[in-house]
Amino acid sequence: MLSARTAQEKININIKKVLVSEEQIRARVKELGEQISRDYANKNPVLIGILKGSVFFLSDLMRALSIDCCIDFMSLASYSGEKSNGIVRLLLDLRETIEGRDVIIVEDIVDTGLTLSYLENILKTRNPRSLEICSLLDKPECRKISVKAKYVGFTIPNEFVVGYGLDLNEKYRNLPYIGVLKK
Ligand code: IMP
Repeated sequence: MLSARTAQEKININIKKVLVSEEQIRARVKELGEQISRDYANKNPVLIGILKGSVFFLSDLMRALSIDCCIDFMSLASYSGEKSNGIVRLLLDLRETIEGRDVIIVEDIVDTGLTLSYLENILKTRNPRSLEICSLLDKPECRKISVKAKYVGFTIPNEFVVGYGLDLNEKYRNLPYIGVLKK
């Protein structure tokens, strides 16, 4: 217990400010869960978690749903450090078909929009019954291509953020809040 807390405090030294607290995340995920449960009442949507950043959001969101649902995963790459290189690559594809299914893409953050636009185009060709996006965070100032997320947790300013699944070179994902790093 003590050593886990020490590890957490060490990470905190590099955080300039907490942008979204653990309590705010918990409350918003609950609201999103209730909204999605209403919108998909009597349906059985497939939640597609985009690895790796969406893992905590997906697992909390799924537990906030009062309807039947399935999960599957995809992995895409376009980021190196704090910069998107603009070229999106598919690293891991779905295990199951989504033909005729109600699909909700669950993402950590929409930044330039390139990743989600690429993904939407791929998934549309597979004939889902419906396709929506649920993103924990949205940075609309950074958009290079239009992407419409039906469900958004928090709209944030143009700052590089970490925590609750989001990383910088694989670090900081385990912070329980969303924070901005010191320079
Ligand atoms: P986009 O293609 O530019 O919209 O970027 C989407 C992906 O970039 C996200 O799924 C994240 O993995 C990563 N990303 C974008 N902004 C941030 C950030 O502020 N912190 C951590 N990762 C980010």
